[in-house]
Amino acid sequence: MTRVLVLYFSRGGHTAKIAAAIADQLALRGTKVDLVDINSAAATRINWPDYQLVAFGACVLYGTYDKSVFRFVEQHAKALSSLPNSFFCVNVVARNPEKRIPENNKYLQKFITLSPWTPSDLKIIAGKVDYPSWPWYDRLMIQLIMKITKGPTDPKSVIDFTDWEDVKAYADHLLELVSEPENA
Ligand SMILES: Cc1cc2nc3c(=O)[nH]c(=O)nc-3n(C[C@H](O)[C@H](O)[C@H](O)COP(=O)(O)O)c2cc1C
Repeated sequence: MTRVLVLYFSRGGHTAKIAAAIADQLALRGTKVDLVDINSAAATRINWPDYQLVAFGACVLYGTYDKSVFRFVEQHAKALSSLPNSFFCVNVVARNPEKRIPENNKYLQKFITLSPWTPSDLKIIAGKVDYPSWPWYDRLMIQLIMKITKGPTDPKSVIDFTDWEDVKAYADHLLELVSEPENA
């Protein structure tokens, strides 16, 4: 049975929810899936040869990624590259369809530039605006980003921009990356 590792970094829980939806869809397709937060104890015990595929997702925070994301990819670049692999990037600028094209999304380009791991497959997923749950300083900064990119600025806004059907389609697409012998 194909075994897939779904790794994620999430600050507020939305990327975790996306990673869980990917894992659920993979499980529906008959795959054994391990869903691992890169900052959990489980992440220190990964036995990479157990897997035939790895997907790694992280949310964008202030135009970049949490330090732990880069720490993890630096530590595991070789292992990540040794498997069919994909990186999914979660951000709210991606609510605009043209920003879901890898070449047009500066956050994804930044990841590719800074990461020692070059993912062989890429996906951009629109995240969530959740002003009420963010501290005032984050709220103000995101309102500014939203103003610049013509997004929602009402401090009461809670808007899930994720296309959950597309998340399932991405999970299905991931299985196409598994090399034939293991998939058979
Ligand atoms: C502190 C903070 C900074 C953010 N910075 C950006 C940003 O620069 N660009 C962007 O498109 N989205 C930005 N976002 C939106 C997040 O990427 C989005 O809310 C995502 O769904 C968060 O995922 P999480 O709940 O897993 O942390 C930011 C969100 C927060 C809370």
